[in-house]
Amino acid sequence: MKRLDHYYYSAKRKGYKSRASFKLIQINERYGIIKKGFFVLDLGSSPGGWSQVAVEFVGDSGKVVGVDIKPMHIKNVEFIRGNVFDENIVNRIREKVEFFDAVISDMAPHISGIRSMDHAKSIELGERALQIAIEVLRENGNMVIKVFQGDMLNDFLKKLRKNFEFVKLHKPRASSPKSSEIYVVCKKFFKTP
Ligand SMILES: C[S@@+](CC[C@H](N)C(=O)[O-])C[C@H]1O[C@@H](n2cnc3c(N)ncnc32)[C@H](O)[C@@H]1O
Repeated sequence: MKRLDHYYYSAKRKGYKSRASFKLIQINERYGIIKKGFFVLDLGSSPGGWSQVAVEFVGDSGKVVGVDIKPMHIKNVEFIRGNVFDENIVNRIREKVEFFDAVISDMAPHISGIRSMDHAKSIELGERALQIAIEVLRENGNMVIKVFQGDMLNDFLKKLRKNFEFVKLHKPRASSPKSSEIYVVCKKFFKTP
């Protein structure tokens, strides 16, 4: 069985909405981004694979809020249907939870197939995720952001280092080697004056 088939069938067996779930599981095993009792904001959450595992990680004392343009229904997840670029999105998020312990973003643009354009759009989404995190993440909070690799990535990492003590690129085993996606793992958020 091929590697991706393995994740596809494992996701089905475990009742996960997508095999993306395993990427978050692997990232969390290595970096401990989400812990029991955490309040987690999941940007680009639909169809819900990440939200499902986030709910498992945080347990009964935690909370998960998802945001996506597309619909999503996951047990124990509060969902906001909206675009992260909407100007009232932060208010809508804060109506649910004021401060989060972790912000996770698996957002991806509609793929055009033109690598440089897809890269630029994914960085734009990553930068928006960072703006939102600056508003809602508590001191020392964690973040994970998916981006497509390309020449704008280094500048984005520099921006992230202005708000996080720890910033590292990671490609989980469950991410296809053929895909240019990579995850930026950020820990210990601090506000810059
Ligand atoms: C790769 S999927 C996320 C998969 C999800 N993490 C899971 O495990 O099921 C990317 C998602 O980002 C969402 N997205 C893209 N641009 C967005 C935006 N501007 N605002 C909100 N969601 C967005 C898409 O609608 C899509 O559902």
